[in-house]
Amino acid sequence: MAITIAILSQKGGTGKTTVTRSLAEGLTRSGLNTLAIDADPQGNLSEYFAVPADAFPTLGEVLAGQKKAVDAIHNGVVPANLGLAEAELMLAGKIGRELTLRNALREAKRRYDIVLIDCPPTLGLLTVNALVASDQAILSTEAEHFSEQGAEQAMEVIGLARENLNPELELLGVLLNIADMRTNHARATLEILRKSFEGKVFNTVIKRSIVYPESARASRSIFDYRRRKALDYANLTVEVLERLGLEEPLGNARKLVSEITPASKA
Ligand SMILES: Nc1ncnc2c1ncn2[C@@H]1O[C@H](COP(=O)(O)OP(=O)(O)OP(=O)(O)O)[C@@H](O)[C@H]1O
Ligand SMILES: [Mg+2]
Repeated sequence: MAITIAILSQKGGTGKTTVTRSLAEGLTRSGLNTLAIDADPQGNLSEYFAVPADAFPTLGEVLAGQKKAVDAIHNGVVPANLGLAEAELMLAGKIGRELTLRNALREAKRRYDIVLIDCPPTLGLLTVNALVASDQAILSTEAEHFSEQGAEQAMEVIGLARENLNPELELLGVLLNIADMRTNHARATLEILRKSFEGKVFNTVIKRSIVYPESARASRSIFDYRRRKALDYANLTVEVLERLGLEEPLGNARKLVSEITPASKA
């Protein structure tokens, strides 16, 4: 049975999709059978997986109950397009609307070790569906736009999902993303995060680099696009596996880190 992880944030553009794509690759390279779900009608994750824009069926059809999730997997991802926004509107009027994704993913979860869900920028019904379908959540936050209020809102949504619909849901970790650690601001943000989310902030900080938008444009994971720049995400993969307590893939992930680490610094 797959461990399912929702990647969310309190606002847009904080690197959720990049985390989902890169972590999916890191976990796959650590030997885990990994499935990604694009739960954002913008379809950025689908593009990142090089899924053609006219791919069919997509998550929209799955949530509408027309197709099975296992039949909607293309290149390792259940893709999305603007039709998902329509599916979300349709869901809103249905009984059990928050449980739709969870139910739809049952069979897929039996076939995979890990399922990663890329959430949309809003804390709406699709994000709630992702949280209800998940065992764990990763909160991605960018120093430049970090606000304690926003992080609190995201925690509230996680809390609501836990209290009402999914008591098993846990916060796997909080990730400082797209960070320039040379700035005082980023370092101060990390301190605030560590105080607000005691023990939950990943030691790995994902540094700001132009290679991420480049790799997205090339529809290739950072590990494929510029391997030596994939060290942050290899380290994140290690931390995620440590927190999940998955020993065997953890060994593989550590090997991945040492392979990428420049010889002079090893
Ligand atoms: N570490 C990084 N350094 C620099 N740019 C990054 C980094 N990570 C992601 N980006 C870029 O920042 C932009 C936003 O990232 P991404 O799409 O992953 O965020 P998101 O939270 O999924 O956005 P949205 O809320 O719109 O779904 C993209 O152009 C992406 O390529
Ligand atoms: Mg995104």
